[in-house]
Parts: sequence; structure tokens; C-alpha cells
Amino acid sequence: MTVPKRVFVTRRIPEAGLALLRARKDVRMTLFPKDRAISRTELLKGVKGTDALLCLLTEKIDKGVLDAAGPQLKLVSNFAVGFDNVDVPACAARGVMVTNTPGVLTDAVAEHAFALMMAICRRVPESERFLRAGKYKGWGPLMLLGMELKGKTLGVLGLGRIGAGVAHRAAKGMGMKIMYYDVRRNEQFEKDYGATFGSVEAVMAASDVVSVHVPLLPTTRHLIDARKLALMKKSAYLINTSRGPIVDEKALVAVLKKKRIAGAALDVFENEPALAPGLAKLENVVLTPHTASATNEARDAMARLAAQAVLDVFDGKTPQYVVLPQKPS
Ligand code: GLV
Repeated sequence: MTVPKRVFVTRRIPEAGLALLRARKDVRMTLFPKDRAISRTELLKGVKGTDALLCLLTEKIDKGVLDAAGPQLKLVSNFAVGFDNVDVPACAARGVMVTNTPGVLTDAVAEHAFALMMAICRRVPESERFLRAGKYKGWGPLMLLGMELKGKTLGVLGLGRIGAGVAHRAAKGMGMKIMYYDVRRNEQFEKDYGATFGSVEAVMAASDVVSVHVPLLPTTRHLIDARKLALMKKSAYLINTSRGPIVDEKALVAVLKKKRIAGAALDVFENEPALAPGLAKLENVVLTPHTASATNEARDAMARLAAQAVLDVFDGKTPQYVVLPQKPS
């Protein structure tokens, strides 16, 4: 009789993924039973002796976790497109494969970035707060004026799947002009959308809305710092649905307080779940709790992909999305 392969799932994910694992008699799944983020101690205990780990972006998967798992660990399947929580080189050094869940959340995140853009530019949450607080005393010609998107320039930082999805919606749906920065120039995209390429600085300076879509890497930490924020137009807005540490959140609070830019809409934060002091008190921000991929469609598909990666590795197949260690640039 073959010994079942063991997978540890660090928190309940949609049934679509769990069902794939449960359906296999030769797989023993252990699911962390509490509906909260697993603690480090619980993670180190749970991972012991497992062949695969299905984990979340809220868990740091480093040498300590790999040591606790043991040498039989074959796979870290990260239920997210971002994988900055996983020490990929440490995994590679031990022959542990890392997978992620790109593609299936592109539309969800691009739509959320768009929702944030519209919400901040048309002051939707601020207007709702105003109304619910009983401050609405009748229509006024100067009341809660916002910015129209048509004809404005959207600056996209990072032209991967999600950045390109936001640009597509902005250009085709809203009639916005597109400017972008990426480590690679995309001439086809420029042709298709009449987009212009520029440095991060040039994009920050020329855009009416800047939307951030780069992955978190050592080279992108604080990519948006006080110096870059100072380049933005006073009338411009910043949207971040990528990773919090890409923006220097304290510096952002300072420019928002001084109204050096018009506003910011953020789904991600530098020290989640904590917010930089003063951020939540500002009227010129829209804040959501890292829910850009939180649609039933995206989360079901992410669960299926993450579970399928586990089964593929157990079956000796290569999963669809394998993360490779970055080559030093
Ligand atoms: C969410 O933030 C993800 O990386 O999937």
C-alpha cells in the first residue's frame, strides 16, 4: 500500500480547491481549523512532515518554515499571484518548488483598481459619509466636486496582466490617455492603445491618476517615495492594488495631509493589517482591506489552481505556474 502524500492547508480556502484535494484517496489533507491567520508557532507545528504546503500571502515562508517541514517537502503552493511572502531562493536551494495563482484574478483586481479610481475621483465614500452624517442639506453647485476621467492621463506603473487590464478599461471604457512604465517596453501595447512609455518619474509627473501594478521586489520597495510623490500634479490621484511596501506610506500620509496631491485609494498597506498613523483620519483617501481579488469567481479559480499544483507535484507533473528565483540584475 502506498503511503498517502500529506498537504497542509494553512486556512480554509474556497471549497472548489479543497474538494480537489479531498477527492484523492492517496492525499491526506490537514486544514488549519480556525478561521483566522495562522500564528507562526501553529504554522511551524502544522507543516512538520508534510509533502506540500498550501499557504496564503499572510504567512512568511522562510528557512525556518522549510526547516520545520523537513526534507520531504516538495512544494509551496501560494494562494496568491504575489509571492513576496515566500523566500523563493531558499526553497530552490532545497529543491522545493514554488507556485502561485496568476491570470485568474486579473479581472477581479483590474476591476477593483477601477472601482477605487472612480470612488476617489468622484468622492463616493466621502459623499456617503457626508450624507449618513446628516450633513446633506440640499443640492449645491459647489458641493463635493470631483474629477472626470475622460481625456485624463492614466499612468500605469507595471504593465503585467493586471496593469494592462486597468489600462484597457481606462482607454476603451473611459477614453483616458495611457502612459506607462515597465522594466520592458511593449511596442504592441503602445500601438494598440496609443500609449506612451516613460520613466517612473515621467509617469508620476504627467499623470492625472497613477495606478501601481509592480510586484514587490527589493528593487520596488518604496518605489513611490517622498521624492516621487513630490513630482505628482497637485490635482492627481494615486491608486495602489499591488503591495503596500511599494509606497512609502508615511510619506504618502504627509503629502495627503498637506493636499500636495488630490487623493489616494489603497487596497494594500505597508504593515498590514496596521495603517500608517493618520491615514484612516483623512477624507481624501479611499481604503479597502486587501480585497482586490475578493470575488467568488477569482477566489474559486485561485483555490483550484493552488490545489491542482499540489496534485500535479504529487503526480510527478509540472504545475501550470512555477515561480523561479529572480536572477540578480
Ligand atoms: C493578492 O494580493 C495576490 O497577490 O493574489
